[in-house]
Amino acid sequence: PVSSSDLTKRYKTMKKTLKSHHQGHLLRFWDELEPEGQGNLLDQLEQLNFQRLDQLIQSHVLKKPEEVLPEDMAPAPFYTHGPGEGQEELYSRARQAGVNALKQGEVAALTVAGGQGTRLGFDGPKGGFCISPVKNKPLFQIFAESILASQKLYQQQITWYIMTSPTNDGQIRRFFDENNCFGLDGGCVRFFTQGTIPAFDHEGKLLLAGKGSLALYPNGHGGTLTALGDSGCLEQMKVDGVEYLSYVQVDNPLVHVLDPMFLGLHIVTGSEISSKTLPKIDDLERVGNFCLSGGKLRVIEYSDLPEELAHTHNPDGARTFNTASIALHVITVNFVERLTSGGLSLPFHRADKKVVCLDEEGLLVEPDEPNAVKLEMFIFDALPLASEAIIFETERAEEFSPVKNAVGSDSPLTCRRDMIRRAARWMSLAGIEIPRNAQGEPACTLEISPLYALGVEQFVAKKVQIPPIEMGEKIYIE
Ligand code: UD1
Repeated sequence: PVSSSDLTKRYKTMKKTLKSHHQGHLLRFWDELEPEGQGNLLDQLEQLNFQRLDQLIQSHVLKKPEEVLPEDMAPAPFYTHGPGEGQEELYSRARQAGVNALKQGEVAALTVAGGQGTRLGFDGPKGGFCISPVKNKPLFQIFAESILASQKLYQQQITWYIMTSPTNDGQIRRFFDENNCFGLDGGCVRFFTQGTIPAFDHEGKLLLAGKGSLALYPNGHGGTLTALGDSGCLEQMKVDGVEYLSYVQVDNPLVHVLDPMFLGLHIVTGSEISSKTLPKIDDLERVGNFCLSGGKLRVIEYSDLPEELAHTHNPDGARTFNTASIALHVITVNFVERLTSGGLSLPFHRADKKVVCLDEEGLLVEPDEPNAVKLEMFIFDALPLASEAIIFETERAEEFSPVKNAVGSDSPLTCRRDMIRRAARWMSLAGIEIPRNAQGEPACTLEISPLYALGVEQFVAKKVQIPPIEMGEKIYIE
């Protein structure tokens, strides 16, 4: 039970604080709230750091922070997919180091799933979106099976950390409960929740989602770092002897969740944060771009790379800025600890969005135009903070086909197509005849379970025997 004298005391203190920070309107509907609602509103407000918010309002809301591109910005160097001349020994040492780290339990998987997935228009956490071509497995199940297969391969309990947001945390946990963690031991699936930040109107006033609640939003995947610390996960990793995190986004079912080669290159080069890259599909592809400036790696989002630069080509015709960031990283646990304990924080990026909120009379407004500023931190802004960072090239057809939009590029349709194409390629290499249509596309629906093979080498080595595949047939290999 909420004691009314306690509530009144807290109310008075908060009223003063809000007044001095020009946010007095947040208590406008106080008298219309029940004591419980009043308590909840105070809980939310008391969590805010108003001094920090004032700074952000000045720097990011009242004006649009200019993304100043460094003058010395150059394309980033990277480790090619296969070893270049003289690199054979390094690559084979790296692969072994990756395998060893996995076998010794030094690696955990980390999936960021706190995003809202608004573009896909799917009502629920994105990880629950069903995508596999034959079995219609949800994204979370594909990752879970991939981790389970790695556990068997490396004979090691590999923990899977999943970052949720306050909005989808309950739904995600329930989804895993209902599906018995997709075969994983419940003890190795650990959820932690990311932080939130209020949305602002263009005058820097915090918005209300209801009479007793702020309009709060996830603070971006850059929030992973502080959330790992605040949730106690970082401490747990130290106890468990976990030294490296394999970071993947929730939207890409082709991803190799635990890639020994990538992990190993990270380890042998002494990198603190490493990223995978691949060549862009066209100059303006909506992906981040790896760049080098002042000897440091950084990612420039597609929205911040001037078109003129995006269209630059070298004398040999190759695209100058051609290393796409596909949001796959290996991160050293000690690096996360250093960043979070030293009070270092990542920069915020501004996005102008439509936010449903209350107007002065307390009526809900559904805006047609962006009415609000949302702020987010990005994980890749940790790259320039690392003492050492590397980029490793992968193949698009093998590892990247995200589900982002309801239709068009990066949609369920293109993603399923790419899953089938990859399965067809693995099967062809194993000597299986694939029926194809006039365009050369597989004329059948194919799916290979991660529990059967995690990669093409493992697949081919198993020498699977199946009856000839007919046109239009559905084949699931498990
Ligand atoms: C992202 C990258 C882009 C990259 C592309 C590759 C950014 C800003 N851009 O674009 O450089 O080329 O992926 O697919 O990230 N998430 C959280 N909490 C949040 C926000 C997001 O956990 O507060 C998670 C989402 O659940 C998702 C991932 O981060 O797994 C990516 O978020 P999203 O906003 O969809 O990034 P994109 O714009 O698609």
